[in-house]
Amino acid sequence: MRIPFIAGNWKMFKTKKEALEFAESFKALYQGTDVKAAICAPYTQLECLVEAFQGTGIGVGAQNVHFAEEGAYTGEVSLAMLKEIGVDYCIIGHSERREYFGETDETVNLKLKKIFAESEITPILCVGENLEQREAGSEQDVVRRQLELDLAALSAEQAAGLVIAYEPIWAIGTGKTATPQQAGEMCAFIRETICQMYDEDTCDQVIIQYGGSVKPENATEIMNMEEIDGALVGGASLIPDKFMDIINF
Ligand code: PGA
Repeated sequence: MRIPFIAGNWKMFKTKKEALEFAESFKALYQGTDVKAAICAPYTQLECLVEAFQGTGIGVGAQNVHFAEEGAYTGEVSLAMLKEIGVDYCIIGHSERREYFGETDETVNLKLKKIFAESEITPILCVGENLEQREAGSEQDVVRRQLELDLAALSAEQAAGLVIAYEPIWAIGTGKTATPQQAGEMCAFIRETICQMYDEDTCDQVIIQYGGSVKPENATEIMNMEEIDGALVGGASLIPDKFMDIINF
């Protein structure tokens, strides 16, 4: 049984003061909920959020990590640093990192291997096609290729521990949501691909989220799709009531 899992991706929003205000309201709203939830926040807010959400069941995630142990990588943060803070999740390979910060399938793969080998942190791996690829009808080829490269050399046990977020780039922050059918079809395709790469047992365990302009108005339809286990929510995760409405889909 896969438990629904809704994660917020705050991107580069919220100061510490704003993060703590959010945490106060959100904790109260979330009480008693059985849908899993997490907030992936900027690095500087992780420690205070881990503390604020202690004992609430609300997870905390980073939005990136470097694959090296340590070293001369100005501006980067290591896995050991995240482990010390006690984060539960880490987004890997978000399309904004692929587009603006030189993230490639190769670095995504190195990061996933590092996380699985040395921590209990759950990676939230983002995959998805751009508009041009969707219009050319090559979205499944693109996503299959990403999965093959991103998961290269991961064991079945490791793959089973993944959260995979299908985020069509054309639907991120644009207000353009994929239709529930488009989202459901691709999430089914992702599960099928994992099945082919590994086995039935492994693909049954992987949590597959949809991300891209998820909001309270469309959350029910999206979450009701059989192959969709959760959502990765950007803009709408910044406001406690809105995010909670999505969790209560
Ligand atoms: P959005 O972002 O919900 O603001 O479209 C989703 C994401 O980038 O994870």
